[in-house]
Amino acid sequence: MASTPPRGQWSGQLGFILAAAGSAIGLGNIWRFPYSAGEGGGGLFVLIYLLFVLLIGVPVMFAELSVGRTTHRNPVGAFKALVPGSWWPLLGGVGVLTGFCILAFYSVVAGWTLGYLFSSFTGMLGNISTNEASSALFTSLIGNPGQAILLTAIFMVVTVVVVRGGVSSGIERMTTILMPILFVLLLVLAGRALTLDGGIDGLVYLFKPDFSELSMAVVMSALGQALFSLSLGMGAMITYGSYLSDEANLWKAGGSVAGFDTLIAILSGLIIFPALFSVGAEPTAGPGLVFVVLPTIFSSMPLGNIVAILFFMLLTIAALTSTVSLLEVVVSYFVDEKGWNRTRSAVTIGAGCLALAIPSALSQGALPSLSSGGIFGWDFLTLNNNIWGNYSLSIGAMLFCIFVGWKWGIPKFLEAVESAGDRRIPLPASRFVGILLRFVCPIAVLATLVYIVVTGSYF
Ligand code: PFF
Repeated sequence: MASTPPRGQWSGQLGFILAAAGSAIGLGNIWRFPYSAGEGGGGLFVLIYLLFVLLIGVPVMFAELSVGRTTHRNPVGAFKALVPGSWWPLLGGVGVLTGFCILAFYSVVAGWTLGYLFSSFTGMLGNISTNEASSALFTSLIGNPGQAILLTAIFMVVTVVVVRGGVSSGIERMTTILMPILFVLLLVLAGRALTLDGGIDGLVYLFKPDFSELSMAVVMSALGQALFSLSLGMGAMITYGSYLSDEANLWKAGGSVAGFDTLIAILSGLIIFPALFSVGAEPTAGPGLVFVVLPTIFSSMPLGNIVAILFFMLLTIAALTSTVSLLEVVVSYFVDEKGWNRTRSAVTIGAGCLALAIPSALSQGALPSLSSGGIFGWDFLTLNNNIWGNYSLSIGAMLFCIFVGWKWGIPKFLEAVESAGDRRIPLPASRFVGILLRFVCPIAVLATLVYIVVTGSYF
């Protein structure tokens, strides 16, 4: 194996779990999950999503972390170290590109969060009680080109500043205190939403599968959501695992991150769907769903304005810990493989990504040719969300499972996960993980992709 350059390290297992949970928990849980579930028919989508988290997400999480920790490298360098002279590093390269392209639309939605945070400071969200008023606010905030670009730019600059600071000092500290507060606040909001008139209908919608909704597009979207939400399929967990020490227990760390992440997604479903049914909004509203529904809950609560400020502040930070991990994947590649320093990498990549974010920022009404219906019937942001967030992550995860299951091999994978010796899980459990990585994950993803190509039901 090539010699390893000196790298940062998490301050300990808890620091790592918090940072990785920070990467996983973000707009994917609170913005993307409810709107994808709404478009996918509710309960059926949720059921398939949960199955994919367990059968594909969790094993891929272990596999990415073990490859990262063993090699202490970025996604490209990790493959170079494990299988020198092969084509596999290309897979890492596609992961790095995917991170760049996801960041380019993610930062736009993160900018909306920031916009809502500013609006909640001015008290603008306090008296929005109808779906119509809330939709009008969303359109005015997001459809204004200058404002959308400025908010995205502010977010990107903050992300660059944090990534420039390096792993443990910048990233870890932020998550330590804020994640628990976010969790408690979500619980309070779910309590409020469930007691709204008609709230129970939302609960039924979220958990009662309607099998007539089954389509390959829904399966694909649930698979993409499971991977997107867990930050898998592009090497983010390889990168974060690369900063882990050999003592850390990967089964525990990976399992806790996946568990927290899924809990937060379900919790945000428990907020959005009851509230949505109580104000009569459409579950299929698309990317604006959460932003339109949430203000109506705040206005129905005592001290709603303060709750709104706190919520959008925490959501902004949750988004930031995710954008940081997206940028970190690309930056660690340029630092390790191209010899750039962190500052140069973070600034250059951040600037490039901002340029690519502009069309997404303009695609929610500001520029009609990029907006809904403009490109193959889609707006630019949604199109990118589907291509990079669903297809690229799914194909990446499938090839990665083939790598670990068939090229690197399950024995080496298990040895890497259980390097500290006392970290064994019962043999049947580790065999099961091996079977999932070798057979279930690649076949499930491939079958979905083939079916989609054959039937032409891409989105
Ligand atoms: N998991 C993040 C979220 O749910 O918001 C998004 C994300 C971060 C996806 C990092 C992929 C990634 F590598």
